[in-house]
Amino acid sequence: MLRIETDQVKCPPLLKWPGGKRNLLNVILPLTPTSFSRYFEPFVGGGALFFALQPKKAYLSDKNSELTHAYSQVRDRPGAVIRELRKLRNTKKSYYIVRSTVPRSDAARAARLIYLVTLAFNGIYRVNLKGEFNVPYGYKTHVDPCDEERISRASDLLKRAVIRDQDFEEALSTATRGDLVYLDPPYTVAHGNNGFIKYNAKIFSWEDQVRLAHVAKKLAGKGCTVIVSNADHFSIRNLYTGFATATLERNSVIAASSDFRSRVTECVFYAGARTDVE
Ligand SMILES: C[S@@+](CC[C@H](N)C(=O)[O-])C[C@H]1O[C@@H](n2cnc3c(N)ncnc32)[C@H](O)[C@@H]1O
Repeated sequence: MLRIETDQVKCPPLLKWPGGKRNLLNVILPLTPTSFSRYFEPFVGGGALFFALQPKKAYLSDKNSELTHAYSQVRDRPGAVIRELRKLRNTKKSYYIVRSTVPRSDAARAARLIYLVTLAFNGIYRVNLKGEFNVPYGYKTHVDPCDEERISRASDLLKRAVIRDQDFEEALSTATRGDLVYLDPPYTVAHGNNGFIKYNAKIFSWEDQVRLAHVAKKLAGKGCTVIVSNADHFSIRNLYTGFATATLERNSVIAASSDFRSRVTECVFYAGARTDVE
């Protein structure tokens, strides 16, 4: 059994991201070692664990280049991103104009992503086959898409991070003994119906899941602490034999309507130095 303690979230993520792990933090945070060299999060998404853990040195990456671009801009030019965001109104008309517009500057491109993800229906990130964001307006009229304090705090934390747009395997090629690695891939096995959950234009394939488990085992063998969150499915469990496993239950937040939200289970796999984790 995994020992579960609760902790305070010190810094909320910059963005709400599909598959975000804020609701698993009370399970994942206690698994992190009290000291480690560097922190690797190669499926960073909303980076819930990074923002909560606040590591001194981090390597954050994702295959979604719009997302990593936004993080780099918030880290390097928070003032410019805030100025661009202030120009954008939270109305349905403005949302569709922003959605269909190609930004002219790097800061405007970052502001556009933050604006769209904040105001999109159910916080969904989805692009069509041409890579165009196509989620409808979410009618969150009370939300200010320009949360300056959140952007400034995120900027300060992101200054500790190397941010890259790359595949997880490349991102992890330099991880070594003493490093902490958190892996939160897209869940390719949907609960109950064997469907696929898309977070991006491309699906994370079964071959990717196998490749990831292979990399996770290699890193654990090198002496990294490795924590993986993934779908609760026998095919996934079979990939992580030798890791401590916890099964967790939570409300599904992917469903489009609250009427269809249900309890789903997922797994956390752990390999590392903590002796209180079986
Ligand atoms: C479940 S989300 C991560 C959620 C994140 N932990 C959070 O708290 O918000 C999965 C992320 O993996 C990214 N991704 C998909 N395939 C990838 C790959 N081959 N390498 C790196 N990132 C990938 C997606 O773009 C998405 O942002």
